[in-house]
Amino acid sequence: MKKKVLAAIMATAMLALTACGGAAPAAPAADAGSGSDAGAAASGSGKKVAVAMPTQSSERWMHDGANMKAQLEELGYTVDLQYAEDDVQAQVSQIENMITAGANCLVIAAIDSDALVNVEQQAKDAGIPVIAYDRLLMNTDAVSYYATFDNKGVGTKIGEYIVQHCGATKDDPKTIELFMGSPDDNNAHMLYAGLMEQIQPLLDDGSLVCKSGQISFEDNNTLRWDQQTAMKRCEDILTRYYADEDLDICACAYDGLSYGCMSALEGAGYTDANWPLITGQDAELMATKHIISGKQTMSIYKDTRLLASKCVTMVQAVLEGAKPEINDTEQYNNGKIVVPSYLCEPVAVDKDNYKEVIIGGGYYTEEQLAE
Ligand code: BGC
Repeated sequence: MKKKVLAAIMATAMLALTACGGAAPAAPAADAGSGSDAGAAASGSGKKVAVAMPTQSSERWMHDGANMKAQLEELGYTVDLQYAEDDVQAQVSQIENMITAGANCLVIAAIDSDALVNVEQQAKDAGIPVIAYDRLLMNTDAVSYYATFDNKGVGTKIGEYIVQHCGATKDDPKTIELFMGSPDDNNAHMLYAGLMEQIQPLLDDGSLVCKSGQISFEDNNTLRWDQQTAMKRCEDILTRYYADEDLDICACAYDGLSYGCMSALEGAGYTDANWPLITGQDAELMATKHIISGKQTMSIYKDTRLLASKCVTMVQAVLEGAKPEINDTEQYNNGKIVVPSYLCEPVAVDKDNYKEVIIGGGYYTEEQLAE
């Protein structure tokens, strides 16, 4: 019996390593970097890679930072990992310091990428290659590569899920409100485009009704993807537009926004009997627990181990002359250049497939989800 369990764990671990080239979020440092992508090239020979991440307040960026650090160190690079807690100026200063401290390569997940244009130029002038991590660096020609998920695809999957599961028809319309991401993040715009493509026909034929009328991105975005901002906006919408009719769907672009809406809904007296369909993104541990309990309906699982491994191949490309895997040379025009990109595949998860996708993929254990 014990042997069987051990064999199963080993098999899962091997699968995870082959597929992702890195560590599980639960134990980022333990087995990082031995995957097919990251393991292929020569040692990093002590070169310094600086990694600028947006915030520790969101779980996914903690995973991203830990995975990047572990996978790069495994290859012999020295890593300077810094978080800026969603403070735009703090991130600018951090990157300036990284350049001064002699970084050989910069990996940046921007807070507000427009604010980084000057510091990216400084890096370019100093001969330091820059790689965009998850969020596109806009309006600069200083960026060599971009590792991300299919950001429009995230919106498409959220939209498809709503269309397939909300049961809206012309005879039985459902109400919907949108809680989108940060206007300074290109990903938020792409997600919105993907979502609207799916739900616009239902809005047009009256199957879906947005009572607030806040359908345009200008009206429904959430600066810095902030949970409190989403909560307040949801409270306001419920008071003003849903006094005598229930809100059926909260189309949220990120798990943190979903938590904000949940608080507002609870405050407004919603119960299991009229609880809406709520979407999200990142499949955070708490969101996955909410999916199991039924509080959140779905999320978008993004395997940060895979993303880190793709980004590491780009670091190796700019520092060692290796060839990174690229699968998109069209979509990501940053206003100056089209950035060669690798798009990882996002996966919609709900109560029906979370076991297979999330537990089976080694992202969280059953124990973590039961705690
Ligand atoms: C990322 C999402 C994340 C959001 C908020 C976006 O740029 O692509 O995965 O949910 O930022 O942190």
